Amino acid sequence: MLYVEILGNLPQMAEGEVKALLELNNKEFRIIERDYLFLALKANEEAFSYLKRLGMAHEYGILLFSAESLEELYLKAKALKWGDFINTTFKVDRETMLNCSYNVKDLEKELGAIIAQQGFKVNLSNPGTLIRAYCGEKLWVGVRKETFSAKEFEKRKADKRPFFKPIALPPRLARAMVNLARAKKEVLDPFMGTGGILIEAGLIGLKVYGVDLRSDMVEGAKKNLEYYGIKEYKLQKGDATKLRELFPDKTFEAIVTDPPYGTSATLGGKKREDLYEKALESMYEVLDGYLSIAFPAEFNVEKTAERIGFTILEKYYQRVHSSLDRYFYVMKN
Ligand SMILES: C[S@@+](CC[C@H](N)C(=O)[O-])C[C@H]1O[C@@H](n2cnc3c(N)ncnc32)[C@H](O)[C@@H]1O
Repeated sequence: MLYVEILGNLPQMAEGEVKALLELNNKEFRIIERDYLFLALKANEEAFSYLKRLGMAHEYGILLFSAESLEELYLKAKALKWGDFINTTFKVDRETMLNCSYNVKDLEKELGAIIAQQGFKVNLSNPGTLIRAYCGEKLWVGVRKETFSAKEFEKRKADKRPFFKPIALPPRLARAMVNLARAKKEVLDPFMGTGGILIEAGLIGLKVYGVDLRSDMVEGAKKNLEYYGIKEYKLQKGDATKLRELFPDKTFEAIVTDPPYGTSATLGGKKREDLYEKALESMYEVLDGYLSIAFPAEFNVEKTAERIGFTILEKYYQRVHSSLDRYFYVMKN
C-alpha cells in the first residue's frame, strides 16, 4: 500500500489527479480511503514513476499501517520489522491534520522509542529514513519517498518566465490538468498563450503541441519552453476553432487547455460562448482520448459538450476571485 498527502486548496481535484495517475499506471490501482488530506492507495512501488508527476500533492510514500487508537498503533509498531524500511538512521515526523481526533503530542517520542528498541538510531537533522505519522480520523504510519517542493513549482510561476503575461495558470494547477487528461505521450493546447500548460506537460516527458491566434504568444511560448529545457514541441499560429485544418492527419490522445475568459483582446473578436462551442467542436474532431479544460462557471458547457458527443467524467469548482469562478472539466470523446 502507498499513501499521498494532497494539497488543501482544491482537495477534490487533487484527489482526482491521484486517481487519474493510478488509472494510467495500472487498472488494479486505486484510492481506498481518504482521511482529510491523506489518501491511502491500493498500489505498489511501480506507481512511483507516475506519482512523481503529481502537481497538487505534498508528498507520497509507502503506507505501513493504520490504527484507530494509539494503543493499536504502538502494538502494530512493535510487531513490525523496521529493518525492511530503515537502513541507517531514522526520524519520526508527525502531521496533525485539522480533523485529528487523538492526543498525539507524544507520538513521535513513543513511536521513535519503539523503533529504536529494534536497534535503529535517531537522526533528527539528516535521517536516512523519514517515518511519517498522520493524525486524522484514523492514525496512519508510512515511510516518505518523495516530497514536492513548493520552490520547484514557484520557479515556473508566470512572472518567472522569460515571456510573461498575467493570463497563465499557476504551475501546480496546470500540471494537475495535464495529469487529469491521462496523457502518456503527447498533449495539445489549442489556446496555449504563454505555454504554461505545455511547460508542465513537457517537463514530465510528453511531446507538446501548441496553437494560439497571436504570433507574439507563439514566439513567447517558444522562448518559455526553451528556457525550461523542453525540446519536443511543435507550436503554430492558428485558430482553435479550425484544428483539423492545422492538423490534417493527426489525432491527439490528450488535449489540455484554458480558453480565454475575458471580453478583452484575448478573445480574438469572437463572442465568448460562440468561441467555446466552436472550439469544443473542433477539439472533438482531432481528439481520441481525454480533454481537460477550464471554463468560467457561468458558461453552461455541459449541454454543449454532450451535444457534440463528449462524455463529462469529472468536474471541479474553483473560486479564483470575486469576479471569476471556474470549473475544471475532464471529458472523453
Ligand atoms: C487564458 S489564455 C491561455 C493561457 C495559457 N494557459 C498560459 O499558460 O499562458 C487564452 C489564449 O487563447 C488565445 N486565443 C483566443 N482565441 C483563440 C483562438 N480562436 N484560437 C487560438 N487561440 C486563441 C489568446 O491569444 C490567449 O493567448
